[in-house]
Amino acid sequence: AKTHYHDFVVQATPVKRLCKTHNTITVNGMYPGPTLEVNNGDTLVVNVMNRAQYNVTIHWHGVRQIRTGWADGPEFVTQCPIRPGGSYTYRFTIQGQEGTLWWHAHSSWLRATVYGALIIRPKEGDSYPFPKPKRETALLLGEWWDANPIDVVRQATRTGAAPNVSDAYTINGQPGDLYNCSSKDTLIVPVGSGETNLLRVVNSALNQELFFKVANHKLTVVGADASYVKPFTTSVLMLGPGQTTDVLITADQSPARYYIAARAYNSAQGAPFDNTTTTAILEYKSAPCPAKGTSVKPVMPTMPAFNDTATVTAFTTSFRSPRKVSVPTKIDHNLFFTVGLGLNRCPPGASRSTCQGPNGTRFTASMNNVSFVLPSNFSLLQAHQQGIPGVFTTDFPANPPVQFDYTGNVSRSLWQPIAGTKVYRLKYGETVQLVLQGTSIFTAENHPIHLHGYDFYILAEGFGNFNPSRDTGKFNLVDPPLRNTASVPVGGWSVIRFVADNPGVWLMHCHLDVHITWGLAMAFLVENGVGELQTLEPPPKDLPLC
Ligand code: C2O
Repeated sequence: AKTHYHDFVVQATPVKRLCKTHNTITVNGMYPGPTLEVNNGDTLVVNVMNRAQYNVTIHWHGVRQIRTGWADGPEFVTQCPIRPGGSYTYRFTIQGQEGTLWWHAHSSWLRATVYGALIIRPKEGDSYPFPKPKRETALLLGEWWDANPIDVVRQATRTGAAPNVSDAYTINGQPGDLYNCSSKDTLIVPVGSGETNLLRVVNSALNQELFFKVANHKLTVVGADASYVKPFTTSVLMLGPGQTTDVLITADQSPARYYIAARAYNSAQGAPFDNTTTTAILEYKSAPCPAKGTSVKPVMPTMPAFNDTATVTAFTTSFRSPRKVSVPTKIDHNLFFTVGLGLNRCPPGASRSTCQGPNGTRFTASMNNVSFVLPSNFSLLQAHQQGIPGVFTTDFPANPPVQFDYTGNVSRSLWQPIAGTKVYRLKYGETVQLVLQGTSIFTAENHPIHLHGYDFYILAEGFGNFNPSRDTGKFNLVDPPLRNTASVPVGGWSVIRFVADNPGVWLMHCHLDVHITWGLAMAFLVENGVGELQTLEPPPKDLPLC
């Protein structure tokens, strides 16, 4: 196994998109940032230097960070932020994961532009469990704002209203030629007739689930979230923010140019949605050149409608592990967490300008009616490891304080969340079953729930209220997929299981950044086990403190 050394300089860089140039926070001047390529078993050492005017941290999304929780990155959870002028070296080893992950800033909304791909090839000497692709392309789906994303979230926090939606979706940072001033920079993916290539698709968008299609071509899904899956063929993918999907694509169509397109899946009823489409071009090398002075538009795929939940369900329920897996059967913690939005009453005495949500309210979000608040004086991990009192409490509830019908109109008294920094404590090696139940309070929508430090099995998903006597029988205990981010269906639920075999403090949150801003998060505190191999490593000497 190798060790890979990288320097990441976080800095403001002028970037031109949609006819305008503005200063954008980047890594090494690149938007999106550098692609890291490693083999399973390798070690990464990334020295992050902050030359921007904002606090920053970098998170290695999906990397298990076994015993190296100090390198996980979410600010105030596993470290204090790297201040302007400061630096921190992240050091960790990839253990048993193969496929596509990514890295992103985990501070305010900086990840809008601070992100990149992390490609993990098989262990040296091993090969893919599918025919070797001729070439590989990482496709990072994203969102671009004409404004500074930090200003967008600051304004939303000040007013209590929903933040402005982005001005474009992007593929590898490019909106594509359906947007103004974007044609000449549209990403071209070249392909030879008859070749089979691997596309590594990442949803790095801030706030948007996305459909993904390539005109006239079938996609064979072979992996997701850096685990292999039993291959299945589809014409459309749906990825929630945080999720990755690896697909094989064979160039078996007539030589021409075909659009690669991504468009919003927006399940929020009544919420504004952006119906624009971002495009790249799959270009056959043998495609005939258009006659001089003419141009032939690439073939456009028909995209699903923004509310096409049936297509999403058909896709998400197709995932299986490649073979029988050993799902933990003895459950130590049987948990039920509600996930959803709400509206807080305007606090007494507050100015109307801070209550610009619907009907003079402020948006909020919670899990089990707790709206998560990050600490500011210590990271949760430091407070845990050093026994510093008063930073968090360990009373995150195993069940919602009141159970009700999550699909109906509910009385507001049932969903006034309390603000708190609450964690749920697990002993090393305990097993967890967790039902994630979407509430349809205010609005029903799909929530991409991401757990740090772990992969989990998704046993089942469904619509309406989870009903143990009816739904337990649907659990896939044979070959469920292993993921780090679950798309909890709109107005429905997902059931996940994992073994708490990685000591540390691990954030779990909705990967729509606007929802984490409103408090849709919690953390698991996993205690050390017995002996060195079950114990968190000591903190690095350069760990940023508050
Ligand atoms: Cu990809 Cu907590 O994040």
